[in-house]
Amino acid sequence: MTKKRCAVLGATGSVGQRFTLLLEDHPQLELIALGASARSAGKPYKDVVTWKQTSPIPSNSAGIVVRECKAKHFEDLDLDLVFSALDSSVAGQRKRFPRLQLQLRRRRCRLPIVALQAEFGRVSDVEVFTEQALSGAGYPGVSTMDIVDNVIPYISGEEDKLEPEARKILGSLATVNDDDGDLTVKEHDTLNLDATCTRVGVSDGHMVYVSLRFERRPPPSAEQVKAALRNYTSEVQRLGCPSAPRRAIVVFEEADRPQPRLDRDLEGGFAVSVGRIRAGREDGHFDLRFVALSHNTTVGAAGSSILNAEAAIQKGLL
Ligand SMILES: NC(=O)c1ccc[n+]([C@@H]2O[C@H](COP(=O)([O-])OP(=O)(O)OC[C@H]3O[C@@H](n4cnc5c(N)ncnc54)[C@H](OP(=O)(O)O)[C@@H]3O)[C@@H](O)[C@H]2O)c1
Repeated sequence: MTKKRCAVLGATGSVGQRFTLLLEDHPQLELIALGASARSAGKPYKDVVTWKQTSPIPSNSAGIVVRECKAKHFEDLDLDLVFSALDSSVAGQRKRFPRLQLQLRRRRCRLPIVALQAEFGRVSDVEVFTEQALSGAGYPGVSTMDIVDNVIPYISGEEDKLEPEARKILGSLATVNDDDGDLTVKEHDTLNLDATCTRVGVSDGHMVYVSLRFERRPPPSAEQVKAALRNYTSEVQRLGCPSAPRRAIVVFEEADRPQPRLDRDLEGGFAVSVGRIRAGREDGHFDLRFVALSHNTTVGAAGSSILNAEAAIQKGLL
């Protein structure tokens, strides 16, 4: 097939760098252009990016001259899609891009709960405690003086975003117009979610400690939950998307897994790892507890956007 021509906005950042790696030699997508701020524009990517990945800068990106993220600088390129790794504070510019744009989905570790709802019905209450990686703060991010030998028990704005995002992700799709089949998200509007978000000295990979309660009584057992997570197949797997992982969710029985350094790159960073799955206390409010790990710039950001594009291609929408 002819590859779709794409650009990445915010290409010099943590997520943008991951996009360039995931788009190197992609079977369906060809990276044509890179965008960043006016500070980086007009220079080759390799000269302006502060490269912080363990693999070298992809050769197809290194020489691309970075453009300022304004639609007029991309108009001559006949792009099929634009991936955005820009912060929402510069979102105004993105709206003027005429072609299909795929924004980041902040899915992080919600996949296990999506899988559980698919099998056991809605969850009503969720409590999460996160240990978030340094790359989640972008570059240069958190100062060494703040994070070495330390944990920061607060990430500005993060906790407030989690409940509205979770209500959408754990909601359902509803048809708004029967004639043309337009879909909208019907939020899970009775979900209660409490979050505490912390920053830890890990390079990549967010850990999330989850306690949850199901609506259904009696709730499923820990063994039923493990089986449901192991058997879960996501839509991108069913569609045969090229970047789809073989296992969307990897379930550990070992009590000391998952761990960021050991497990964040499972399935190329496209899997979410889950461990310590156990029932809540019999006299307690929560039915289930577990730990989840996801690679924050791959499945948590760039990788999910690329999977969205691949799904759109497989469905003939792009
Ligand atoms: N990092 C993660 O793990 C993660 C996960 C999920 C979602 N996200 C979201 O993804 C977005 C990017 O995060 P990040 O961590 O990659 O940030 P980052 O490392 O700080 O990168 C920011 C990027 O935006 C560009 N930029 C900054 N100001 C700009 C402006 N005024 N006009 C055009 N470009 C501008 C920067 O270009 P210059 O280099 O030229 O300044 C850089 O390419 C954020 O919304 C974040 O919340 C991040």
